Formats: sequence, structure tokens, C-alpha cells
Amino acid sequence: MLATLERRLGPKGFTRDAHEMAPWLSDWRGRVHGQAAALLSPANTDEVQAIVQLAAENRVAIVPQGGNSSMVAGATPSADGHSLLLSLRRMNAIRSLSPEDDVAVAEAGVILSDLHDAAAGIGRRFPLSLGAKGSARIGGLISTNAGGTQVLRFGTMRSLVVGIEAVLPSGERFDGLSALRKDNRGYDLRQLLIGAEGTLGIVTAASLRLVPAVGARAVAWVGLAGPHQALTLLRRLEAATGDAIESFEAMPANVLAMVLRHIPGTRAPLGGTHAWNILIETTAPVGAPDPVEQLTGLLASAAEEGLIEDATVAANEAQAEALWKLREVIAEAERAEGPAAKHDISVPVSIVPDFLIEARAAVESRFAGSRVVGFGHLGDGNIHFNVLPPPDADGKAWVEGEGKAVNAFVHDFVGARGGSLSAEHGIGQLKLAELARTAGPVRLHVLRAIKHALDPLGIMNPGKLVPGVD
Ligand code: MLT
Ligand code: ZN
Repeated sequence: MLATLERRLGPKGFTRDAHEMAPWLSDWRGRVHGQAAALLSPANTDEVQAIVQLAAENRVAIVPQGGNSSMVAGATPSADGHSLLLSLRRMNAIRSLSPEDDVAVAEAGVILSDLHDAAAGIGRRFPLSLGAKGSARIGGLISTNAGGTQVLRFGTMRSLVVGIEAVLPSGERFDGLSALRKDNRGYDLRQLLIGAEGTLGIVTAASLRLVPAVGARAVAWVGLAGPHQALTLLRRLEAATGDAIESFEAMPANVLAMVLRHIPGTRAPLGGTHAWNILIETTAPVGAPDPVEQLTGLLASAAEEGLIEDATVAANEAQAEALWKLREVIAEAERAEGPAAKHDISVPVSIVPDFLIEARAAVESRFAGSRVVGFGHLGDGNIHFNVLPPPDADGKAWVEGEGKAVNAFVHDFVGARGGSLSAEHGIGQLKLAELARTAGPVRLHVLRAIKHALDPLGIMNPGKLVPGVD
């Protein structure tokens, strides 16, 4: 089979060279290391089909991969070295951009920031962004139902993907790129493939919703006493600005300190230290009044009333970018800080403030010396609730020893409040055991039944997302 694939894909599309394969065999955080029989980089959907058909005939597993920025090792092959690692990186064409339909058709390997640039070229934008925008690719963003920093206004990938082309585990091509606003032909295969982590097929291209370009934006950094004040501020801004708020990102003092410690060229935006910091962005369409004035006024009233302690509104784009950088590099700063028990949880938005305070206290008292760094998308109810080892501990050993118990403790705390153990990063390999432990029989049964119906041979990204089928 490998010789056939080598002939079919040519030297650009096939390698078994250890050096070329190495960067793609470990996850971004360096926690999981896999092996693969070969790295395949098809140039088009026909080649993806040929690969899947051969893999199905030979019962060989395929692990699809985009930018390899998964937070849950969703694109890392198993260690047995039997699977084929299928990189979508060469399929990076933007097939079309339609201002009439407000749709871009992008192949799976398109890098998110390249799509941003292409949309800007026709006076539109693709309203999903995240720290890894320079490396994350469309196929991976779809397959993880990525969220990021604009979900508050535009939703996750589920609300932005209007059509999908995919190769199913049978090798058949599902041609669903047509961007229909209404389509009731039964089960929604597009939605089934979004967030499926490559377990039901390989997304090769997608039609993506574009929205009008921003006329002007206001970016502010706010210091305040706690998450309750933060949520009150969010609700107040929403009431005053309609749907102008795109981002409302929260980080406590220890997260800002971590960023300043590890990322060169960053500096604290406010004079003093504040228990919590909020990054806010509001936008206005072309021709509408400048949002800076409005946000400045609203924050001034909030300060007068004592709801917030301090704030600065970026005076120009360079300042706005500098504020955003502090938010977008958190994952990088965290990686530099060292091992941690990471959680990507969601709870109903109204209970986020209580959750943050209570969960932090509970974890730090249960696991002596541990430190919680919880930050993220407060307005979405999505917190990256990470637990760092005690400062004097060997971090790797602590995470290996205590990590499982910490995960279970946090997930049970979240579950008791109706929350989810994966808000936006997916399940991958790293959350699989916890999903199996907490999901309950009905959810597990349905996940397995769908997986079996579409991938009866179990060749698509085995060992990810669906507990107990591989
Ligand atoms: C973020 O919001 O920065 C990302 O989801 C990454 C993370 O959890 O570290
Ligand atoms: Zn996030």
C-alpha cells in the first residue's frame, strides 16, 4: 500500500523521512508523542479520496492534521506507528470569494490569518479569531468547532460554516459546498462533521460566512476587583451598545503577570495591579459613529460608580494591537511556564463569577500548594481553568502524579453545575478518559452509534473523541 501511495502522491505528497515527519508527530504542547507509517500531503480532494480508499481496503488508520495546534492532541497519531498521518497543509487554496453571497470557499489547509486577509481584500471579514491564527488551519478549526475571541457576537465555527466538502471513511466524496441558507434534507451532515475531530471523515473544503468589514473599533483594557463586577460590566455594555461588543476576555492578575514574565516586549497596560483584567472590543460598521467615544464614556461612568478601578482605551491601532497581544499570547506564556493540569470548561454564563471564586478556592485547598490560573471567554461561559503545580514541585512529576485527580475534581465540580469539560478545544486524546467517565450512557451510546454508522471499519482518527470504540 505504501508503494502505491508513494507513486500516486509523488515526492511532495509522500514521505517516510524521520526528519521531515518529526515536527508533526508530537502535539503543540509537547505532551504526546506518536509515530506514523508515512506522512501524506495530498494536493487535492481526488488524492484524499485515493488515500482513504486504499486505507479502507487495507484497514489502515488515518490521522488528519492541519496546523497541529490542537490543545488536546487531537491530530497526533498513536505510538504504534501503523497509521497514516494525512496533512492538509498543501490544500491551501481559497477557491472563491463572493461578496454577493458573503461566502468564502476555502480548502482545509488555508491558514486562518490568510483567510482574514483574503476577506479584507473584498471588504469583508471572517469573524473568528484566536491566538493561533497564524498557524491554525480551516480544516482543524472546523473539526474542533473552534471558538476563540469573537464567539460572543458571531458564535463558534458551527455558526460560520455554511457548506462542507469532505471525504467520508468509505472514500466517497460528500459534496455539500453549496451555501444554502435553508436546507432541510434530513440529518445535517455538515454539522455532524463540524466538531467531529476527523473521526467521521476528512473535511477538505468549506464555504464560510463572511460579514461586513469593520469601520472602526474600540479596544479597552479594564482593571476591576472581581468576576462579579466583570459580568455586571458586560451586561451593562451590552445593554448600551446593542450587538457592538465582539470580545470580552477576562484574565486575573496572575495570568497577566505570567504573560509579562515570559513574552518579550509586553508591558502592563494600567498603572496599578488589579485582581482582574478585561479586554474589551467593540466595533462599528463603515459610516457609523466612532465606537471609541462611546466605550470611553461608558467606562468613565463605570469608574465613577466604582464598578471598575481603572481603564485605558487604545488611542490608535498600534495600541489596540498591543492590548490584544497580551491576550493572544497567554497560551504561549503558559507553555513557557511549564506543565499544568489544563481544563477548557464551560458553565452557564450567569454562574461564571461564583464558579471562578469557588472552584479556585476548592482546588487550591484540595491540592496543597497548587495555583489556579483561570482565564478566558467570560462572556461565553468558557474558562481555561488551569492548575499549576506547587512552585517547589517538579512540575512534570506533579502533573503525572496528581493530574488525573485534579482533572476529575475540576470536571466533577463543573459537571455538578451543568457544565462541560470541553468548551472549545475538543476531546482529542487528552480528554477521552474523562469524557468516558462523565458522559453518561445516553451520550456515549449516541456517539458510538454515529461513529459506527459512518466509519464501521474504525479507520478515521481512532483513539480520539469517541470513547471505547478503538
Ligand atoms: C485561549 O483562549 O487562549 C486558547 O483557547 C488557548 C488556551 O486555552 O490556552
Ligand atoms: Zn480559548
